[in-house]
Amino acid sequence: MKKIRVDLDLCVGHGRCYELAPEIFGEDERGHCRVHRTKVDGEDVALAFRAADNCPEGAIFVEADDGSGEG
Ligand code: F3S
Repeated sequence: MKKIRVDLDLCVGHGRCYELAPEIFGEDERGHCRVHRTKVDGEDVALAFRAADNCPEGAIFVEADDGSGEG
């Protein structure tokens, strides 16, 4: 299980995240990223990493889920 975080100060709306992984990311009214799912597992982890790798701003972070329930 991984936790997904998007730094909205870095996101400028390239839209690659929600093009690549529409089940995890969506867009707000300005085309900026909106996270649909903050926790992923299985195949969705690879998808989340792919989206993170493809964000030109490096705004997407896929982090260990320490189970604390925060975020
Ligand atoms: Fe924003 Fe990066 Fe997605 S700039 S819209 S988080 S690809």
